[in-house]
Amino acid sequence: MSAVHNPIADYRSYPQVADLLEFARHPDLLELRWSDDRLSPFHHQWLRDNCPCAECVYSVTREQLLEIVDVAADIAPLAVAIAADGYLDIDWQGGHRSRYHPGWLRAHAYDDDPRAERLAQQRSRRLWQAEMNQQLPVFDYPTLMHDDQALLQWLLALRDLGISQVTGMPTAVDSLQGIARRIAFIRESNFGVLFNVQSKADADSNAYTAFNLPLHTDLPTRELQPGLQFLHCLVNDARGGASVFVDGFAVAEALRREAPEDFRSLCELPIEFRNKDRRSDYRCLAPLIALDALGNVSEIRIANFLRGPFDAPAQRMSELYRAYRHFIGLTRQPRFQLVCRLEAGQMWCFDNRRTLHARREFDPASGARHFQGCYIDRDELLSRIRVLQR
Ligand code: OGA
Ligand code: ZN
Ligand code: ZN
Repeated sequence: MSAVHNPIADYRSYPQVADLLEFARHPDLLELRWSDDRLSPFHHQWLRDNCPCAECVYSVTREQLLEIVDVAADIAPLAVAIAADGYLDIDWQGGHRSRYHPGWLRAHAYDDDPRAERLAQQRSRRLWQAEMNQQLPVFDYPTLMHDDQALLQWLLALRDLGISQVTGMPTAVDSLQGIARRIAFIRESNFGVLFNVQSKADADSNAYTAFNLPLHTDLPTRELQPGLQFLHCLVNDARGGASVFVDGFAVAEALRREAPEDFRSLCELPIEFRNKDRRSDYRCLAPLIALDALGNVSEIRIANFLRGPFDAPAQRMSELYRAYRHFIGLTRQPRFQLVCRLEAGQMWCFDNRRTLHARREFDPASGARHFQGCYIDRDELLSRIRVLQR
């Protein structure tokens, strides 16, 4: 069957997986029957709200002009027909006419089965543990720079696993910018468009020392933590300094199973994260685990070196310490850890709101070590994936 492009709606095409056969009229909805016998209810208001005509949607922006609140709540069709070209045609009270492409209707039907299918599609995330040491997705820099299909595979790995390595990178300073811009624009911070990870005498973060840097997310001090983090290795001649990664979502789900009360404490009790220097003072008060509207873990926020004193009600302080110790204890277990030392010309790219990263201590006297990093927000990643998939 053909894929028909609806120029008004949204740039996507909607395969006509089934034909409309008939409809039944009810007081506030139409029930459509498809050629595969599925039944889909569509409320009158919903149909009127989603009229794709040029009066209801501005064809240039493809954004809606109609506001459904300006239409009577009890709007009902005067006449309904399934047209010869398969479209659903409705003449409304008041004189408006709407035509709906069957593929579009099917893709947006809200009976239980398609809603469950759509939710399942959104759950493409795969949790990982130490087996990632053998399964790490590795991508080749020159290929990513010119091949959009390879780029899409990389971005899907970032979306679904939240971890990847890129090899074959140049080691010139600032060469990270080119590959980051293949995805989207970079999110600047007070540490720069690109930040330089080097041991410095006047460090404004423990990251810029040679210390062990425990498992953390970057910028938990901001209301919105950066989505993607890049860490590009230019030089790594110093002894030590291996990278450690843990899937924070896998740890949170393990905690939810092992100790639901600790999981709940970390969802409920906010923790303050702070970063300050002579010119800036960032603070954010938020729980370590965030859930989305469906109860799925959507974000981990953690960095012991940026954490302020716990400020919980006195009767819950012991509970917060117990839950915090439990979570960190899990992240320290080798069964959750990916451990790998980066060489010059290699890069990590990972979901900073999911995948915790750490650096083991290194010996700055034994050789130079220079990484450059940057951030891109998660929305940019998802937008780029959708456009590449069109
Ligand atoms: C950082 C960081 C890791 C490293 O700069 O936030 O985690 O390997 N660096 O130096
Ligand atoms: Zn219309
Ligand atoms: Zn970091």
